[in-house]
Amino acid sequence: MTAERIPLACVIGSPIAHSLSPRVHGHWLRRYGISGYYVPIELRHETLEEHVRKLPDFGFCGANVTLPFKETVLSFSDVITDRAALIGAANTLTFLRDGRIRADNTDGYGFIGNIRQSAPDWTAQQAPTMVLGAGGASRAVISSLLGEGAPEIWLVNRTRNRAEMLREHFGARVRVLEWNHAPQELSNVGTLVNTTSLGMRGQPELHFPLDAIKRGTLVTDIVYTPLETALLAAAAKKGCVVVDGLGMLLHQAVPGFETWFHKRPEVDEALRQAVLGQ
Ligand code: ATR
Repeated sequence: MTAERIPLACVIGSPIAHSLSPRVHGHWLRRYGISGYYVPIELRHETLEEHVRKLPDFGFCGANVTLPFKETVLSFSDVITDRAALIGAANTLTFLRDGRIRADNTDGYGFIGNIRQSAPDWTAQQAPTMVLGAGGASRAVISSLLGEGAPEIWLVNRTRNRAEMLREHFGARVRVLEWNHAPQELSNVGTLVNTTSLGMRGQPELHFPLDAIKRGTLVTDIVYTPLETALLAAAAKKGCVVVDGLGMLLHQAVPGFETWFHKRPEVDEALRQAVLGQ
C-alpha cells in the first residue's frame, strides 16, 4: 500500500528569496488546514528544464514561475493555455498525471480580479484604457483588458518601438501614444494602468502629470512597494478610484492553489496582512 502523498508546490525563479508567493500560499495552507507545503526554489537556466521535469518525482503537483523564466518555460511545456500563448509567458505550471507539463498565465486574471474586488462597478467597456509600459506585465494587462471588452487601449511607452510591437501582436484595438502627449489625453480615459517599474522603491519616480484626469477614473499600479505609489496618491487627490497593486499578486495565485490543493482560496484582508508581514 502506498502512503498518501503530501501535496507540494513551489515558486521557481532566480533570485527567489524575496518572492512573496510562499507567504500567500503558506497563509492559505494554514487557513484551510491543508497538509501541504509551498517552497521557493532557485533554479538556473542551464538546468531549468531538467530540474523542472524532476519536480513531480519529489511530489510536486505544480509551480509558480517568476523572473527570469516566465518565457523560457513555454519552450518545454507540453500543454499551453490560450492565455499563456497570447501573453507569451507562463506563471503557473501544473504537472499532469501523465507526465506532461501544463503552462498557464494567471497574471491578467489577477489584474482583473484585483480591480473587480476593489471596484465592483468598474467596467473596461465604456471608455479607452491608458496603459503605461510595454514589457511582460503590460502584455498580461493588455490581453486581459481586451478579454474584458475594452474598446481601445492607448499604449504609452518610453521606447515607442516596443509599444508598436505590442500593437502588432494584439491588433487594431491597441493604439500607440507618445509619452509626452499622453497626459493631455487623460480626460478621455476610463482607466489608467502603470505597468512600468517606475515608482517602485529603489527605482526612479514615474513623472506623469494627472492634471487632465477626470474624477472617478480608475487608476491602478502594478507596483506594490510602496503600496501607495506617488501615482496612486496623486490620483486619489484628483478624486479617482484607486486600486493598489498588491491584490494582483494575491489574485494571480488563486487558480494555481485551487488546482494543486483542491480548494478555491479567498483573497481577503487577513491574507493582505499575512503577506505584508503585519
Ligand atoms: P516587466 O516584464 O516587469 O514588465 P520589462 O519587460 O523590463 O519588465 O518592462 C519594464 C517596463 O518599464 C518597460 O515598459 C520599460 O520601458 P522601455 O520599454 O522603454 O524600457 C519601463 N521602464 C523601465 N524603466 C523606465 C524608465 N526609467 N523610464 C521609462 N520607462 C521605464
